[in-house]
Amino acid sequence: MSSVDIPREQWATRVGFIFAAVGSAVGLGNIWRFPFQVGQEGGAGFLLMYLLFIVVIGFPAMLVEFVVGRRTERNPVGALKEIGSGIWQYVGWIFIATGFVILSYYSVVAGWTIRYTILGLQDGYIADAAEAEGQFVTLASGLDAILFHAIFMAAVIAIVAVGIERGIELAVKVMVPAIIIITIGLAIYAATLPGAGEAYSYYLSPEWGVIADNWQSIVPAAAGQAFFTLSLGMGVMITYASYLGEDRNLAEDGAIIIGFDTSIAFITGLIVFPILFTAGVDPADPGAGAIFVSLAAAFGDLTLGWLIGAVFFGTVAIAALSSAISLMEVVVSYIIDERGISRPTAAIGIGGAMFLLGVPSAYDLVLLDLFDLFADQILLVLGGLLLMILVGWSLPDLAVDELQRGIGDLGSLGPAWIWAVRIPVILVLLVALVLGILDYYEFLTGPFAEWVGDQ
Ligand code: PHE
Repeated sequence: MSSVDIPREQWATRVGFIFAAVGSAVGLGNIWRFPFQVGQEGGAGFLLMYLLFIVVIGFPAMLVEFVVGRRTERNPVGALKEIGSGIWQYVGWIFIATGFVILSYYSVVAGWTIRYTILGLQDGYIADAAEAEGQFVTLASGLDAILFHAIFMAAVIAIVAVGIERGIELAVKVMVPAIIIITIGLAIYAATLPGAGEAYSYYLSPEWGVIADNWQSIVPAAAGQAFFTLSLGMGVMITYASYLGEDRNLAEDGAIIIGFDTSIAFITGLIVFPILFTAGVDPADPGAGAIFVSLAAAFGDLTLGWLIGAVFFGTVAIAALSSAISLMEVVVSYIIDERGISRPTAAIGIGGAMFLLGVPSAYDLVLLDLFDLFADQILLVLGGLLLMILVGWSLPDLAVDELQRGIGDLGSLGPAWIWAVRIPVILVLLVALVLGILDYYEFLTGPFAEWVGDQ
């Protein structure tokens, strides 16, 4: 039987679609990347800019992906072939490539979160920062990392193999409420810590001077984060919207999804900063390896820190899982739609290949950076940029028409949306792409060249 004969799968409920999209959006980006970007970029100023970009860039861009998915009812490659002509047909391939690369190392990092959950329950965390760092280096690469990378990938395969309604939808209906309840619980706990007051003022009161002095780095970082955290730029929202049957109000769904994602990121800050301040860690110090070093060390310092830490890392693992299934679904939907291969076979084959591609990242942190920077700062932004140019400049009528299905006449909001895509969204992505390429070049000629020299 060819794929054409099989009726396309659909979400069973509206909540199922919304939870799946929230599950995709809420992930390592919210809990791991966000607080440390706030830390690196000087606190509340970054938060403010980030919130602005979520509204001005994230919301219009998400609607673009939604309308493309629902209109075509296809995977990203098929969708772009249908709406684009000439070279635009191939933009979908960038999405597939991005998903492939991101999940390969995302799974490695997610594996660390499982390892750190077990660590808390078994031995507790080490309070000494230098020792905690040593422990991280041992656990984050080598056989340990490969093993937990394999375990995580197997879980992703298992969920995706079952399908949309009984696999992904069912899984997110359990995972997303759990993430929400636990993060709120942890934030309430964090409010009782002695460092909470100092942490809140750092996190919540912007110093205008800091913003004015650092806007060149704050602006691209905030824009990139807004895109990454909403799972934009790699066809996830195209794929998920392609399983929507009825004509729903996509703007309303988008606003709900963004509301959840932003709230979880914000609440994570209310957890992480009080813990860091209480343990006396400067939030500007940590950088990317951070939650596994400074936060873990802070857990080592707290009463019952092993338990709080295990709950925290366990939640991060769940959030990563609900994002990872969306990354795999992008590629799997392509294989099913265009190649006519069955879902379980596709999930196992793709998952196996992604696992292998992730092994170098699990072997050495520099290689993880090599994949991460390339996917995050170049592929993701490039794919998003091309899609926005195509839809914003050549298909505005189709886009507005599709958005109106389920809403009714948009009036002047239609053109307002299209112009938001045409100018601010495209401009920000363009700047982010240029900066991303420069950054990658620096990485290749700096840390990576050094690493190659050492081998
Ligand atoms: N949004 C996810 C996060 O915040 C990451 C992600 C990006 C997932 C792109 C899917 C696609 O962790």
